[in-house]
Amino acid sequence: MDVFVTGATGYIGGTVSARLIQAGHRVHGLARNAERAERLEEHGITPVLGTLDDFDILTTAAQSADATINAANADHPYAARALAEALEGSGKKLLHTSGTSIVADNASGQPGDIVYREDTPLDPLPEKASRVATDRLVVAAAGKGVHAIVMCPCLIYGKGLGVRPDSIQVPMFIDMARASGVPRHPGPGLNIWSNVHIEDCADAYIAALEHAAAGSYFYVESGEDSMLDLNRAVGRLLGLGERTETLSLADAVRAWGAPMALGMGSNVRVNADKARDVLGWAPVQRALLDDIENGSYADRAA
Ligand SMILES: NC(=O)c1ccc[n+]([C@@H]2O[C@H](COP(=O)([O-])OP(=O)(O)OC[C@H]3O[C@@H](n4cnc5c(N)ncnc54)[C@H](OP(=O)(O)O)[C@@H]3O)[C@@H](O)[C@H]2O)c1
Repeated sequence: MDVFVTGATGYIGGTVSARLIQAGHRVHGLARNAERAERLEEHGITPVLGTLDDFDILTTAAQSADATINAANADHPYAARALAEALEGSGKKLLHTSGTSIVADNASGQPGDIVYREDTPLDPLPEKASRVATDRLVVAAAGKGVHAIVMCPCLIYGKGLGVRPDSIQVPMFIDMARASGVPRHPGPGLNIWSNVHIEDCADAYIAALEHAAAGSYFYVESGEDSMLDLNRAVGRLLGLGERTETLSLADAVRAWGAPMALGMGSNVRVNADKARDVLGWAPVQRALLDDIENGSYADRAA
């Protein structure tokens, strides 16, 4: 298959692209400048020069491909709509990337009980309402002849296989702990995030491309951990022991910015049994705490 991937130079899109190539598909990746295009070529991906705001380029690339994977920006409703409209009546597959912070509860490090499944009603924080509306727009495209699917991954960790091998969150906690000499989390760190290794996440995309019904929606997780435990693992990686420090919300916002500080202090718990049952997806990579201590982040410990 020829697959058009937005975000092909990014963490998710890059690893999904690598898995597609490993499976024998041809990948055409959106690149927003010549340097990014060159990096794609080094990874065996044919560049499509353009940005998410070039609707004509998105339309032509999506219509020319057998399937499209939108992995650039979960918060760009315009590009999602342009891609969905481009594929109306084609029956072609469109996988759109969302993100589980749509279930965030703004708990400032306190624990939370709710574990979301695909049919659990959502009541997103204002800053995530547009993302939920965008997901619904994509799902609704199934009613207009698009084989539309939404993938909703949680906190992704591990070394990716593409141009950008790292995500934001875990490296940020490691770098901050190294700089200050102690791992820090917003509030007491008792809030819990679901998580998934980047390669397992990419495998879920491939499984969805092959098996998901039009109009379906999937959470993607393979475990969950508290921010406290994540940061304790960071401390062990860096040889700092088990001690962690509480950051007040104000300090966390100053250090990381509001979206990251509020997000990392939230409970974001989802269950991906649907992906396991319907797609036959079976995550196999190291769990988060093991991967922090013994896997992907050894280079950052030095
Ligand atoms: N990483 C996670 O843990 C996670 C989990 C769930 C959901 N998500 C969501 O999934 C999306 C992708 O995440 P990621 O971690 O893969 O991000 P990333 O590594 O920053 O990659 C973003 C990709 O999109 C491209 N891009 C961004 N804006 C663009 C534009 N206007 N025009 C063309 N290309 C553009 C980037 O190109 P450049 O290379 O030129 O920058 C890059 O290829 C984000 O919306 C994120 O919130 C991420």
